[in-house]
Amino acid sequence: MSTEVATARDEWLAGPTAPQPRQEAVRVTGLYKYFGQGEQRVVALDHVDWQVYTGELSMIVGPSGCGKTTLLSVIAGILNCDEGTVNIFGREMTHLSDRERTRFRAESIGFIFQQYNLLPALTAAENAAIPLVIAGWKRDRAVNRAGEILATLGMGAKLGSLPGQLSGGQMQRVAIARALVHEPRLLVCDEPTAALDHETGLTVMHLLKEQAVRPDRAVVVVTHDNRVFHFGDRITRMDDGRVVEVVEQRAGVDSH
Ligand SMILES: Nc1ncnc2c1ncn2[C@@H]1O[C@H](COP(=O)(O)OP(=O)(O)O)[C@@H](O)[C@H]1O
Ligand SMILES: [Mg+2]
Repeated sequence: MSTEVATARDEWLAGPTAPQPRQEAVRVTGLYKYFGQGEQRVVALDHVDWQVYTGELSMIVGPSGCGKTTLLSVIAGILNCDEGTVNIFGREMTHLSDRERTRFRAESIGFIFQQYNLLPALTAAENAAIPLVIAGWKRDRAVNRAGEILATLGMGAKLGSLPGQLSGGQMQRVAIARALVHEPRLLVCDEPTAALDHETGLTVMHLLKEQAVRPDRAVVVVTHDNRVFHFGDRITRMDDGRVVEVVEQRAGVDSH
């Protein structure tokens, strides 16, 4: 048997649902983050060791003020930690120069925030195109590509609309398109459904789940919306700056 035939046969025998080996997308170790000084000092992250895996939607839950946004911001490079290490797809962030780190994060990470952070003077397609323009694409090509992504999110008729002409759910879709347009391997989302009604929130979670099941991708969602907990493959509970529990929930998603 030729090598190609043998490989094809192995793949056929393994079947289409053969599990992909999961990989570590993020590993943080010994993370500390403090805000303020002296009596006022807040320990926002208090020795966090934590991992995120590819092919999974990781959910972070916990009471307001427990450190969820801080943890996401440190992973995303928006905040520096005071102690500890951040490894993303096998790269130790502290080993990279500032320039390398900025570039690596721009290529590899997409962000979705509770407040959509859209630029009011740009159209939906132009907003969604921003990461491609930053990556050096010509404007027209970037806007076309962003338009394709928006169309897959049901926004094909709104490409030329300004944010002020869109509903909350539509603005969040633009923010999602912007986070996906450069095909980052890691998507981090801070309360992405908080400003949305239940139905729109579920649509958004389904979109995020679709990204997460891809074997080379990972999605992290911070939420305190218990109506979307069942989307998580792994639920991390935080309290008072610490990870207090990690539960795997592999059963999958029901469709309601
Ligand atoms: N920029 C900041 N300056 C001072 N304190 C902050 C700042 N950001 C967060 N904190 C404090 O750090 C703790 C964790 O905050 P955060 O990560 O935003 O929590 P969560 O997202 O879980 O609600 C809280 O006590 C919060 O008040
Ligand atoms: Mg928060």
